[in-house]
Amino acid sequence: MLPVYPMAQTFFITTAIDYTNAAPHIGHAYEKILTDVVARYHRLKGEPVFFLTGVDQHGQKVQQTAQKQGMEPAAFARDITAKFLALWEKLGLSNDGWAATTDPLHKAVVSKILQQLFDAGEIYKASYSGFYSVRQEQFLTDKERGPDGEFGPEWGEVTDISEENYYFRLAKHRDWLLSYIDAHPGYVTPAFRQTELRNAVEKLSGDLCISRPKARLEWGIELPFDAGYVTYVWFDALVNYISFGGYWSGETPHNPAFDERWPALHVIGKDIMAPAHGVYWPIILHAAGFTDAEIPPLLVHGYINIGGAKMSKSLGNIVDPAVLAEKYGPGALRYYLMREAVTGQDMEFSEERLVVRYNSDLANDLGNLLNRTLNMAKRYRASVLKRVDPADPWLAEARAVAEQYAARMDQFQVHAALEAAFGLAAKCNAYIEAQAPWKLAKDPALADQLDGVLYRLAEALRILSILISPVLPDAARGMAAQLNVTAEPCLAGALNAEAALADGHTLGAPTPLFPRIETEPKA
Ligand code: MSP
Repeated sequence: MLPVYPMAQTFFITTAIDYTNAAPHIGHAYEKILTDVVARYHRLKGEPVFFLTGVDQHGQKVQQTAQKQGMEPAAFARDITAKFLALWEKLGLSNDGWAATTDPLHKAVVSKILQQLFDAGEIYKASYSGFYSVRQEQFLTDKERGPDGEFGPEWGEVTDISEENYYFRLAKHRDWLLSYIDAHPGYVTPAFRQTELRNAVEKLSGDLCISRPKARLEWGIELPFDAGYVTYVWFDALVNYISFGGYWSGETPHNPAFDERWPALHVIGKDIMAPAHGVYWPIILHAAGFTDAEIPPLLVHGYINIGGAKMSKSLGNIVDPAVLAEKYGPGALRYYLMREAVTGQDMEFSEERLVVRYNSDLANDLGNLLNRTLNMAKRYRASVLKRVDPADPWLAEARAVAEQYAARMDQFQVHAALEAAFGLAAKCNAYIEAQAPWKLAKDPALADQLDGVLYRLAEALRILSILISPVLPDAARGMAAQLNVTAEPCLAGALNAEAALADGHTLGAPTPLFPRIETEPKA
């Protein structure tokens, strides 16, 4: 009988691990920020979270690029890895683990899985001759030929080779995967990608070549059962999710630390869903004895495009996120990407839009709201608030926004959650205009009304400081400090009336939180 594993108690979330054959670009940054925001949101809900990201350091692309630069692959991968690490730090990623595939811990787990699958007869040796794409590191079949019968430019240099290799029995598990997909409608988010994946699985035929002869590729993890070969980079890379998740971290593959986390939610781009994450990976896990309940769900995001096209070196349209974060601050970049990208869909990147979003939403709507509220409270009430009954309909509506925000975040609809939050900021700004506190302050008979307005605004700002915290952690801290709120931000603090500011609460001093970005006038 199969062992029964307890349900994961930790929210385990991963990103794709990025190839170290080139420096990071805005697409990599988008995926990491999205994952960071979801991880931070789950922490805000009070859940234990394990957020893992990292780098994919092996493979032919890394070896080739290193060679071109006259470097050893290890040194080259180390340099690029340092660039990723510096960027993630700059962008404020809150990852708990770091998956670098040259780590001996990872290599040991890859070896163990390979040996286990080999012993179980899931891996076999066979000879194959055919066309091989150096760029994509895979053998090509007629399916990959274009309408003109040729292999398109996306495959790069294509050579005819014949060699012995090791194969993983993928096709044998095809029907299991189809039935798994059919029985688990929420396996892939968004749902249309699950349909796309199912179609890809239906077409699946043949097994997966999981080795590369050392004569051709040295930069990889040696097969435990044949020192003449290294492991195919995708097999190596996918295993990062379990090796850095604690699999085999004890005497046995499964152990309490791993079982408490697994399965993870994998956040990946649309290009690596089929076949890598949606075909190879569930089948590898299934063949290694993972139960259906342990197959990791996928959150598939779209592409960040530039000028309607994919970013590429040859087009010269690569956007460097480190430059943007330096120029505008990490918060501006995080907010722009999260506010404008619809999870699952492609987005067109525009630096101009980044500036517009920052100035209109952060500097004008939220920043000014905080500043005006604190200034008015200081001027009219020495910053001391008089509590309004939390059952007050205006406050109830503010809390309802937090509920809407949470429902959207639970569905990974970060842009829609932010839309809800900034709707509350707009409501506050309209409320100030309608109530005109500067007029109320002139009439002592309206003192209670003025107290009510100031309290409602401060309370809405407290809720907003919580709601923006996954996307803008630094600004959220700054807001809380100015509001003189010391409690650690938590979602319950935005949803529950009991968490409302106390009677007599004293607000802090206002300082501009989001100074406007003054753009250079266009020529
Ligand atoms: N190393 C593999 C993944 C192995 S995961 C076990 C890989 N690396 S990558 O560097 O090419 O891509 C890393 C992630 O960035 C992928 O999820 C990919 O979809 C994403 N992006 C790469 N370019 C992108 C955009 N232009 N826009 C958004 N994300 C895209 O694939």
